[in-house]
Amino acid sequence: MSDREPKLVDTFGRAHRDMRVSLTDRCSLRCTYCMPADFADWIPSAELLTTDELMTVLEVAIEEGIDEVRLTGGEPLLRPDAVDVVRRINALPQPPRISLTTNGLRLAAQAGALRDAGLERVNVSLDTLDRERFKAMTHRDRLDDVLAGLAAARAAGLEPLKVNTVLMPGVNEDEAIPMLRRALEEGWRLRFIEQMPLDAGGLWSRTRMVTAEQILEEISREFDLTPVPVRGSAPAEEFFVDGGPETVGIIASVTRPFCGTCDRMRLTADGQLRNCLFARDELDLRVVLRDEGLSDAEVREGIRARLHRSVAAKLPGHGIDDPSFIQPDRPMSAIGG
Ligand code: 5AD
Ligand code: SF4
Repeated sequence: MSDREPKLVDTFGRAHRDMRVSLTDRCSLRCTYCMPADFADWIPSAELLTTDELMTVLEVAIEEGIDEVRLTGGEPLLRPDAVDVVRRINALPQPPRISLTTNGLRLAAQAGALRDAGLERVNVSLDTLDRERFKAMTHRDRLDDVLAGLAAARAAGLEPLKVNTVLMPGVNEDEAIPMLRRALEEGWRLRFIEQMPLDAGGLWSRTRMVTAEQILEEISREFDLTPVPVRGSAPAEEFFVDGGPETVGIIASVTRPFCGTCDRMRLTADGQLRNCLFARDELDLRVVLRDEGLSDAEVREGIRARLHRSVAAKLPGHGIDDPSFIQPDRPMSAIGG
């Protein structure tokens, strides 16, 4: 928690300290809940923020109270200079804590360099321990690479090593217990995430999704779960497993939304500011960064003003359960987990 005064406070009193930064919309997997297998609507590379532009945004954001930066994608490690991005963020005045959400494929090669550059920890997405299922769920035969990536992250000291698992009905819903067993063996901090309506293909259905309650019921058959107190703005509800110290987390974004304590903002790889994963509107920072009529100071003031405007317009919650809910126009891969 920062000792700096929060400045990005919305109309519901939520202070924003966490910025999720998407480094690219490209991905090396095609997880069905995130993007269609034949997805081709990529952001043109000329529209991706350069690393210099990104640093300008982050400098202003840090001045406005952001103290945690989470790098995401698509797959953030597909950005050729990802390690350098981490190094440069870490060299900013009042550097934020830096974490990375990744599919793990490049971690075996890069975990050490990322750690040296100042990365604190990683979240790795892994939904199944079965090779054939992994292929079916991601359209790529890369389970072993993810497991090697996890081992490398461990060896590099990127701790705690969090693993995110999305369970889907009829696909991998029977893996809650095997995943948790494996996580306990390997020292992963496992969190189950409820599937959200973000797949871009319109596959999601509230009546078919695996809920937090079902997951808790299932893993309670094998493990004794007791709630860990304190939650703060962290979305996961944590439980000690068999008395602890190991824990398992549940991120019940749909059935028990945590919007009331949300402290996040998001920056897409093409420089659009979003105040929510499910926001319908974005504010364009790229156009400000590239406005040749503006001085450097004016660019910064333009970004600062938009950070505040975005936060001021933030709604109380995502309203997924509301009949009038509309999915965002972009797939998850282009918004950034
Ligand atoms: N619902 C829930 N989680 C999702 N993720 C991606 N798409 C969805 C979705 N529709 C997860 C990934 C990754 C994290 C960034 O978000 O599995 O762990
Ligand atoms: Fe925050 Fe939006 Fe996520 Fe709710 S859905 S927690 S408001 S980012």
